Amino acid sequence: MNDMAEGVGQAKLILLGEHAVVHGRPALAAALDRGVHATARRGRVRVKGPRVRVPAWQVDVVPDANGDDLERAMARLFEASPSEVRDAVVDVEAVVPSRAGLGSSAALSVAVVRALAALAGDDLDVIRTEVLAGLAEEVFHGRASGIDAAVAARGGVLRFLRGAAPVAVDLGAPLPAVVAYVEPRVPTREMVSQVGAAYGKRPEEVGARFEAIGRLVDDATTALVDGALDDLGRLMNENHAELSALGLSTPTLEEACAVARSAGAVGAKLTGAGGGGCMMALAPGCESEVAAALEPLALWVTTVRLGG
Ligand code: PMV
Repeated sequence: MNDMAEGVGQAKLILLGEHAVVHGRPALAAALDRGVHATARRGRVRVKGPRVRVPAWQVDVVPDANGDDLERAMARLFEASPSEVRDAVVDVEAVVPSRAGLGSSAALSVAVVRALAALAGDDLDVIRTEVLAGLAEEVFHGRASGIDAAVAARGGVLRFLRGAAPVAVDLGAPLPAVVAYVEPRVPTREMVSQVGAAYGKRPEEVGARFEAIGRLVDDATTALVDGALDDLGRLMNENHAELSALGLSTPTLEEACAVARSAGAVGAKLTGAGGGGCMMALAPGCESEVAAALEPLALWVTTVRLGG
């Protein structure tokens, strides 16, 4: 057993397939080159554990099975960790915004379970890491597909199908992208349940959209492997149109996608649960122009190179 141990979890972008993935269609996601870093300590710590602190998100919580979402999610992670580390204090550095659609909750959960396991001297394999992080994701997302936890734990670019092992995708070319956080949004769980309710009421229409999204994901997998970025961009635009038709876009997300395309992006779409949050643009050769165009209407903009 150690006095101090660390763990990391990567943030992610869903390239295509969000929401449909909850209902059994494939999706593509890419890890960002950044995320969250957790340090777990026990013994001589000034505050009493258990505790999780994330100053960047103004978070300082005591895990509590009867508390709010975050307190319950953290309680699940502590309860699933070795008993000797259940009084640990976990300090987390986060360099992505929370609740924006970048998989921050999964990155946090993965980093925390890894740090707690390492504190106990345990070596967690990736499957166990995903299962444990999934306990917290169920609290945050309701009916979570598991895609966020898979990318947070594995990194890289993944093709994900609920219930199957994620498959790493070898990129034919790196993906120069811009991510913009355009506005705060409601929790993922609410967006997931809104889409689930629409599917219940209009199964044919919504089911057809899920099917269409699944086909776009299949074509996009080929485009990724071939490094065909123009094709990929077009498929992302089509995926965005399907997500808008499902009621997941907002006027600000629409404007941001239009601005990114006018500035040269080959594709732009909302990413994550929608209803606000983040959009992404595929911008080969014009990352800085697209980022500059998005700057005035976003709360946070960054350029990222996905897949190395
Ligand atoms: O919470 P977000 O914005 O990273 O989105 C999660 C993706 C969904 O498909 C909407 C939900 C899920 O569990 O797959």
